[in-house]
Amino acid sequence: MMFPEYRPRRLRQTDRFRSLVRENYVSKEHLIYPLFAVPGKNVKEPISSMPGVFQMSVDNIVNEAKEVFDIGIPAVLLFGIPERKDSSGSHAWIKSGIVQRAVEAIKTAVPELLVVTDVCLCEYTSHGHCGIVVKEKGDVFRIDNDSTLELLQKVALSHARAGADMVAPSDMMDGRVGAIREALDDNGFEHVPIMSYAVKYASSFYGPFRDAAECAPQFGDRRSYQMDIANSREALREAALDMEEGADILMVKPGMPYLDIIHLLREEFTLPIAAYQVSGEYSMIKAAAQNGWLNEELVVYESLMAFKRAGADIIITYFAKDFARASF
Ligand code: PBG
Repeated sequence: MMFPEYRPRRLRQTDRFRSLVRENYVSKEHLIYPLFAVPGKNVKEPISSMPGVFQMSVDNIVNEAKEVFDIGIPAVLLFGIPERKDSSGSHAWIKSGIVQRAVEAIKTAVPELLVVTDVCLCEYTSHGHCGIVVKEKGDVFRIDNDSTLELLQKVALSHARAGADMVAPSDMMDGRVGAIREALDDNGFEHVPIMSYAVKYASSFYGPFRDAAECAPQFGDRRSYQMDIANSREALREAALDMEEGADILMVKPGMPYLDIIHLLREEFTLPIAAYQVSGEYSMIKAAAQNGWLNEELVVYESLMAFKRAGADIIITYFAKDFARASF
């Protein structure tokens, strides 16, 4: 009988050995917690497909932000559901818009909490698309890339003026990182970084988010601007473009089904990489846990560790608060 010389199990015997040789860590310092702001007062509306996640009015968002900061999460990602939608999404950039008001209120109450804003039009347009819709013949339509860029510049600038620490464009128009960078720089916001949704797939895992943000497209889908789920080389091109245009952080979205893409970007780029564990991933774990089919705490820890192992620096997750409160 031959026995191998090297036995990996020698270093797995005790907690002390295991932690001595552990390669990756998940810590709450690297998490970003998404928040949904709605008009009104004292609103805390549950999102049925995302147990534990709420649409909140600005007063409640401020309390939530305090709590998030107190438990050690450094950043929130703000989405807004406006009072009114129109074809160009004009409430996305008005000074009294929902996100602008939420940013101001959070930065006043908890100045040290980093407030990141999602820059997109889909929550604000009556048709639910992320850009300007141009009708062609019959049911055929297209999203006009270049006229959308000007609107995105206005949105990003209005967020910066309200006090956002970082903007995160999620629309997937070509050239938007460069356009937003230029608008920020020309208006005295050279210090505001851009976290680009660089690699964002046309995924079905966004379903519950579209309930939360009330932004499902009213016709068609997002496949003409979001990425084809079959492609990975394309992810490298998207990321390279965003980097050249001035992105400070590259994001991959969704998360768990796209760990290969996170790994690919990690090998190619030195910029910080963020992974977005999206609504559908959250809902799957929650639903299974509520049925007693999975141990929620352990599965959340394992999923966040998978992002770290794949090479993500930052994780955007609806589990941020749960993770910060759990004792690992
Ligand atoms: C807006 C946006 C979406 C998400 C983040 N920003 C929805 C979409 O692209 O359809 C999804 C986030 C999630 O599912 O948690 N463009």
